[in-house]
Amino acid sequence: MNPAPSAAQLLDHEKQLAAAVAVGWVRDGMTLGLGTGSTAAHFIRQLGARVRAEGLRVQGTATSLASEALAREAGIPLVEPRRGLRFDLAVDGADELDPELRLIKGGGGALLREKIVETAADYLLVIADSSKLVARLGRFPLPLEVVPFALPWVLDAVAQLGGAPELRLAKADTGQPALSDQRNLLVDCHFGLIADPEALAIRLQAIPGIAGHGLFLGLARAAIIVQDGQLQVLRPGQAARPASEFSKLP
Ligand code: A5P
Repeated sequence: MNPAPSAAQLLDHEKQLAAAVAVGWVRDGMTLGLGTGSTAAHFIRQLGARVRAEGLRVQGTATSLASEALAREAGIPLVEPRRGLRFDLAVDGADELDPELRLIKGGGGALLREKIVETAADYLLVIADSSKLVARLGRFPLPLEVVPFALPWVLDAVAQLGGAPELRLAKADTGQPALSDQRNLLVDCHFGLIADPEALAIRLQAIPGIAGHGLFLGLARAAIIVQDGQLQVLRPGQAARPASEFSKLP
C-alpha cells in the first residue's frame, strides 16, 4: 500500500492543477511573462509540453535566470527585454494573496524582475496552492531587494517602520548573504499583519537603496487556487467562481 501523500505533496498537486488551468488559457501568438518559483515552474513545464505537442506559437521573458533555463529546456522561445515590449499575459505564483489579490512575492528572491515583467503585462494571472490565500497580508515575511552599499541605512529605516529586518542568508551555516540575479541583497521584514499595504508600499519606495519590495498591489487580475478541493477563480473583491466556468482568461 502506498503511504498517504504528505502535506507538501498535496500542495504541490494543487500547484500543478492551477498551472494546468492557466496553460489551458494560453492562446496561439501570445507573448508571456514567465514567473519564478515551484508553481511557475509547473506552468513553464506544462506550457512547454503544449508547445511541443501542438506547435503552439508563444514566446516569453522569464523573471529569473532559473526560469529562463527552465523555459529554454522546455522549448519555449525567449525574448530579451526591449523598448515597447508588452506581455499579453504574465503567470506567476505568490507567497501570499488576499481577497483583493494584493500579493506578497519574493520568497524565491526574484521580486524585482517579477515586478518589472508583471508591470509590463496586460494581465497578471496568479497560480497558487490553497495555503497562500490569507485574509490579511503579513504572515509571510516581506522581502526587499537592496543595493549592497545601502544595506545599513535600509536596515535602520525599515526597523524604524517596525519591520524587524533580517538579511537573507544563502545558507544559514555559512553566513554568506543570499544574492538576487542582479547581485543585490535580500532582506526579509517582519511587520506582522499589514493593516495598510498601500501606505507601507509608499514608505518603502521612499527609502533610497531599496531596489524593490515584495508588495504587488493592483497588478493581479485573477488568481487560480484550490478551495475546498475545487479549482476556483478569484478576482479582486469578487466572489470565487469555479474554474470550470472559464475556457479563457476571465
Ligand atoms: C519568487 O521570488 C516568488 O515571488 C514566488 O512567486 C513565490 O515565492 C511563490 O513560490 P512558490 O510557487 O514556489 O510557492
